[in-house]
Amino acid sequence: MHPPHRLEIRGLTKRFGPVAAVTDVGFAVEPGRVTGFLGPNGSGKTTTLRMLLGLVEPDAGTALVNGLRYRELPDPARTVGAALEANNFHPGQTGRDHLRIYAAMIGSPDSRVDEVLSLTGIWDAAHRKTGGYSTGMRQRLNLATAMLGEPPVLVLDEPTNGLDPEGIAWLRRFLKEAAAEGRTVLVASHVLSEAAQLVDDVLVMHRGRLLAAAPLTELAAGTTLEDAFLNLTGALA
Ligand SMILES: Nc1ncnc2c1ncn2[C@@H]1O[C@H](COP(=O)(O)OP(=O)(O)OP(=O)(O)O)[C@@H](O)[C@H]1O
Ligand SMILES: [Mg+2]
Repeated sequence: MHPPHRLEIRGLTKRFGPVAAVTDVGFAVEPGRVTGFLGPNGSGKTTTLRMLLGLVEPDAGTALVNGLRYRELPDPARTVGAALEANNFHPGQTGRDHLRIYAAMIGSPDSRVDEVLSLTGIWDAAHRKTGGYSTGMRQRLNLATAMLGEPPVLVLDEPTNGLDPEGIAWLRRFLKEAAAEGRTVLVASHVLSEAAQLVDDVLVMHRGRLLAAAPLTELAAGTTLEDAFLNLTGALA
């Protein structure tokens, strides 16, 4: 694996016509921690992640991975493992074939496919066509794909969608372990109660702006993350 990487976002801004999707957002994400990128629907989380991954051109600002823009990274697919929407699989392909093709594409050995299948607990479904996967199985295959290149950075968008409580407990262990291995883990979620179980640090988005950045224990000291969020947004009303 590449050495630990730090993410740095500075002054990111993006409008879609009349919609100010992201306005002057800046933060850093450190290795060895699970960082939650939290906020309600439409608050600008996915747009920020897409700018970080070079999928959307910002109107202003920069998103840097160890000091470089995504497009400038020498080995992007093996530096940043990304899992955005969990529905971009060819429905007629088995999970294993999907992983093998992606591994070949990014220059990871075939043996890594078996590793990520066990890592994400989808061994049993590996030979089934992804068109028949449940939502939870898709999430796991998405995570397996993100982990193929042994990336020092993981960027996950709503990875708890479709997971049952057991799946969320599993994801929690998975993310903790990834962070303990020195990875930088950024997880976007609109479900604060679930996110509170997963993360060490919290970035709070609201209407395209970053409202707070703090360790979870500090932000939600003596209260729940939901109440802390209501206090933050209530102060704006
Ligand atoms: N391609 C696009 N064209 C037009 N508007 C867009 C586009 N992408 C995002 N938006 C708008 O930008 C705003 C932020 O959307 P974004 O998807 O970043 O939010 P989010 O925080 O990820 O929400 P969710 O929790 O629902 O995933 C929304 O108002 C959305 O409608
Ligand atoms: Mg989103």
